[in-house]
Amino acid sequence: MKKVLAGLGAALLLFVVGLAVYVASRQHLKFSVPLPAVAAATDPAVVERGRYVVRNLASCPICHGDPKQMERAQAGEEVPLSGGFEFNIPPGKFYPSNITPDPETGIGRFSDGEIARAALRRGA
Ligand code: HEC
Repeated sequence: MKKVLAGLGAALLLFVVGLAVYVASRQHLKFSVPLPAVAAATDPAVVERGRYVVRNLASCPICHGDPKQMERAQAGEEVPLSGGFEFNIPPGKFYPSNITPDPETGIGRFSDGEIARAALRRGA
């Protein structure tokens, strides 16, 4: 009986160590994702539809809005999507980005393809 338990224990230990090594070996994988061939629309009706979707349907401001401006946002004002929230979800903390057109702190320097890939198609 002791030998069987020892064998089972050794097998379990081997399994756990093997799993840990496998998981650790996949921690820093990189994937090459091509940029979608898209261009932002300039038609005012399409731009307005996008504004409506972002502000009302997709709820982007819930995460990307500034928490200090939440009251104004809830009162219906269009606050800048400058980020500021911290989601503390163990084991990590997540910070929605500043997605204003600011070239330094926002996404003003992103190409249309980079924005589409980041926000709309791949989520990263
Ligand atoms: C549930 C919360 C949440 C919602 C809702 C959300 N986002 Fe995000 N978004 C994030 C987080 C968190 C990141 C940062 C991810 C990271 O750093 O890897 C992010 C990243 C981005 C980025 C990439 C910015 C960069 O600097 O790389 C863009 C663009 C973006 N979001 C646009 C949008 C749009 C447009 C919407 C609405 C359609 C939206 N997000 C809705 C949480 C959210």
